Amino acid sequence: MGIHTDEFADDFRKMTGAVHDAGGRIAIQLVHAGGQTDAAAAGRRPLAPSAVEAEQFPEVPEELSAAEIQAIIAAFGDAARRAREWGFDAVQLHGAHGYLINQFLSPLTNRRTDEYGGGIDNRCRFLMEVYHQVRRAVGDEYPVLIKLNGADNLPGGLVLEDAVFAARLLAESGIDAIEVSGGTPASGKETPVRLQIDEPGKEAYHLGYARRIRENVSCPVMVVGGIRSFEVAEQAIAEAGLDYISMARPLIREPKLANRWRDGDRRPATCISCNGCFGPGLKEGGIYCVQEKKAARQQG
Ligand SMILES: Cc1cc2nc3c(=O)[nH]c(=O)nc-3n(C[C@H](O)[C@H](O)[C@H](O)COP(=O)(O)O)c2cc1C
Ligand code: SF4
Repeated sequence: MGIHTDEFADDFRKMTGAVHDAGGRIAIQLVHAGGQTDAAAAGRRPLAPSAVEAEQFPEVPEELSAAEIQAIIAAFGDAARRAREWGFDAVQLHGAHGYLINQFLSPLTNRRTDEYGGGIDNRCRFLMEVYHQVRRAVGDEYPVLIKLNGADNLPGGLVLEDAVFAARLLAESGIDAIEVSGGTPASGKETPVRLQIDEPGKEAYHLGYARRIRENVSCPVMVVGGIRSFEVAEQAIAEAGLDYISMARPLIREPKLANRWRDGDRRPATCISCNGCFGPGLKEGGIYCVQEKKAARQQG
């Protein structure tokens, strides 16, 4: 399924209906992969701000023309309109993890000499044009969120100071919340999805970025990455002044984790941060926790 086309309207409506029937709310993330894909997946040579290859994707992408940039901005707006029509409660722009918006923000992958490249104000232009297009498509009252890298954790990549600049522009323009992440697949041990988070000291690994962004904006800020224990989650709110925390892998392993903590069982998440859940997502068409599956098999 994808929200770049009208083809999946019925499927998405079924999805949002099921979540609403169960008392939940659901946002959809809007992403263009930029140079972080290959011709087999994209159906054409990948497009990026500049012809700079991303480490894990050795095909050199094609530099986007001005007309292609405008077409992608329009497509973000169309996707947001569909999301609203099909029952999603919010959209989130993917401005992190080395995908297209992040590639425009980063001086490593954006070498353009037109108005979309150069200083941070120019490197923010694509993001802001996407944001305004999306806002026009859904209206002022509908939540538009962004996942933003606090830094790319790469030599020559996006740095915190530039991320703060982007966050301020977004907040001044009415973004409803910023989820702070960091890194790209090329960032070694400092990727967005770090391994072996097995002690509190390794948790909430983007908290420093999130705190700094929170100090500079008026909108809600949340942090993602490595939250495994209730106490660390609580500290992010109480001590770092954040508005929300978000989790991914702990909820793949234990979808009812929040309820467990709410009901008084405050033991840490059982996720061991092995990243085994990526495999089924890529190869089997759906994500699940391979450790849970192994445990269930052993129990017979
Ligand atoms: C299987 C899998 C798929 C993911 N897909 C996305 C994605 O589509 N978009 C995104 O922003 N992050 C994605 N992530 C990253 C998570 O949203 C999150 O940023 C990261 O896992 C760190 O948080 P955690 O320690 O709570 O898992 C994915 C992570 C996993 C494990
Ligand atoms: S496979 Fe399971 S234990 Fe491993 S990271 Fe994914 S959710 Fe956590």
